[in-house]
Amino acid sequence: MRTFTNVKDLGNLKAAVAEALEVKKNRYAYKNLGENKTALLVFFNNSLRTRLSTQKAAMNLGMNVMVLDVNQGAWKLETERGVVMDGDKSEHLLEAIPVMGNFCDVIGVRSFARFEDKDFDYQETILNQFIHLSGRPVFSMESGTVHPLQAFADLITIEEYKERERPKVVLTWAPHPRALPQAVPNSFADFMNEADVEFVITCPKGYELAPQFARNARVEYDQDKAFEGADFIYAKNWSAYADPNYGKILSKDMSWMVTEEKMALTNNAHFMHCLPVRRNMIMTDDVIESERSLVIQEAANREISAQVVLKRILED
Ligand code: CP
Repeated sequence: MRTFTNVKDLGNLKAAVAEALEVKKNRYAYKNLGENKTALLVFFNNSLRTRLSTQKAAMNLGMNVMVLDVNQGAWKLETERGVVMDGDKSEHLLEAIPVMGNFCDVIGVRSFARFEDKDFDYQETILNQFIHLSGRPVFSMESGTVHPLQAFADLITIEEYKERERPKVVLTWAPHPRALPQAVPNSFADFMNEADVEFVITCPKGYELAPQFARNARVEYDQDKAFEGADFIYAKNWSAYADPNYGKILSKDMSWMVTEEKMALTNNAHFMHCLPVRRNMIMTDDVIESERSLVIQEAANREISAQVVLKRILED
């Protein structure tokens, strides 16, 4: 594996999940694979889970790990070509990336959508510069439009907790005070569309995901109807994708919050969210604290999804 940005990079998805469950049983079995290899994790944005789980995964494989917080201690980076650099940015990403590549064997990048320019975000400009200029294998730790390590961990979690062969999985939009990227729902849809599940997306009109991610998933605008018979409810907020509202909040309708009453419409569904989550906006305290909530388990599986990806990069 040279890059990891989407579900296709894993090849056979069933085999990837089986490998993940095997790694989970014995996560130190490959501790010689990363000997004298260095993972560089570059963060343009904040993180708790990705930072810890990816470091842990690399350490499980015997790798050295370096973490660079671009906004804390590094030179302020310019990312646009052609800019006259007479402002506060001292270094250009176009030099910084190959320099970073000199000091490591694999690079993980976290760089959120900026919502300034849809093409800049959806062309994955920052991530692709790392892919093309670093000379190293590169994986997304959540970039402009995708969060594949999260979606892979979510799929592993669904596989572990499903109670029937082909579960109904519902991705539901929920309200949030700030405009959030589409990366998590995009990648969740990317993975669910390839998995052996009945996949439904429910959101208010105007919140449809990009067609390359939603593909043929059923979109249901009536949240109660979508929840009927669901085995997994995956809640997430995202901002609008479609023009002219890209990156905007169209609704803060609190009737979309996941409550115990809404969960009662399901087939005793498990509740999922990638975290961090705002309580009593996305879901009530009771829902996240219920015994059917899997938010801690899916966060724990971030170590496993990262380890499978790093293992495959090292093996290649
Ligand atoms: N789910 C997730 O990526 O969490 P962090 O932003 O804390 O890494």
